[in-house]
Amino acid sequence: MDEPQTLTLIRPDDWHLHLRDGAALAHTVAWSAAQFARAIVMPNLKPPVVDTAQALAYRARIVAALPPGSGFEPLMTLYLTDATPPGEIARARDSGAVHGVKLYPAGATTNSDSGVTALERVYPVLEAMQGAGMPLLVHGEVTDPEVDVFDREAVFIERHLEPIRRAFPELRIVLEHITTADAAAWVRAQHGRDAQGVPLQGATITAHHLLYSRNALFAGGLRPHYYCLPVLKRARHRAALLDAATSGDPRFFLGTDSAPHARAAKEAACGCAGCLTAPHALELYAQAFAERDALHRLEGFASCFGADFYRLPRNTARVTLRRQPQRVPVTLPYVDGEVVVPLDAGAELPWRVLPAA
Ligand code: NCD
Ligand code: ZN
Repeated sequence: MDEPQTLTLIRPDDWHLHLRDGAALAHTVAWSAAQFARAIVMPNLKPPVVDTAQALAYRARIVAALPPGSGFEPLMTLYLTDATPPGEIARARDSGAVHGVKLYPAGATTNSDSGVTALERVYPVLEAMQGAGMPLLVHGEVTDPEVDVFDREAVFIERHLEPIRRAFPELRIVLEHITTADAAAWVRAQHGRDAQGVPLQGATITAHHLLYSRNALFAGGLRPHYYCLPVLKRARHRAALLDAATSGDPRFFLGTDSAPHARAAKEAACGCAGCLTAPHALELYAQAFAERDALHRLEGFASCFGADFYRLPRNTARVTLRRQPQRVPVTLPYVDGEVVVPLDAGAELPWRVLPAA
């Protein structure tokens, strides 16, 4: 195939990112700022970011950790709980700094113990969000222990997302880090648009779900650095995600879900969920798109559709990728002298992002 050797794109944004807090910010913010102009920052700190005042304080800590000269912009989110007052939504919107409210079903993933226990409890908040045009960002997995872990996304859509969509047809919703053909099909079946013609339904897709099926978790032994939530699925689901991401459909856009955990917390008897992809995210996405000869579709997915969904201007700066192998470091420094292990540690990636001119 006649694959281009370099690829210049509008600078991308990451529409789903975990930056953590405290000393971790010195590392996480630098990784993302090197590749992305903006990121939607997840609120699952300990304790979670539940109101606008906390989001603004967290934003200030992120900005203070920016490398000198960086224009990286954190876009903040609130963590929806059973106790979120509907009045918080207007405050969040008026701050100009909060761009979404995250729904974690209680117990779904890392630091989600304060999540929502019964969706009807938050319907007044969803009503306020629909009215304010505030996006709902959904971790789409049921937590019912009776449901097989590989089916939790599909069951969530049927049991919970479908009723939310029916009750709030004008609500702007992002189904985060989709992992199944079922999720991609459900998103495609949502045809609502706002007055500007922008879809009311979006979905983020991670690089690791585009590159790997669940086989990666068990390749020759248990591979904790490929464990994330929602967990990797069968090959046919990966194929469906590649179809969606490379289709040019503006409802699908980039969200790394890069979620660092110190090596000891991953390589443990009960290891944490989360893949660290931020330091090489764009290279990983390029590799996935190249697999489908679809590099011409990367810019829409990485740099345009998410900005349009969030009603933000597209970036004007550019970034260039070159087809030139690079080796992923085996570890990267992290807090308290610990290290993190990036996805594909030690492997050679076909693409690299060139330093800004
Ligand atoms: C995330 C984390 O570690 O914060 N983990 C993950 O596997 N994606 C939480 C999340 O987004 O589910
Ligand atoms: Zn996440």
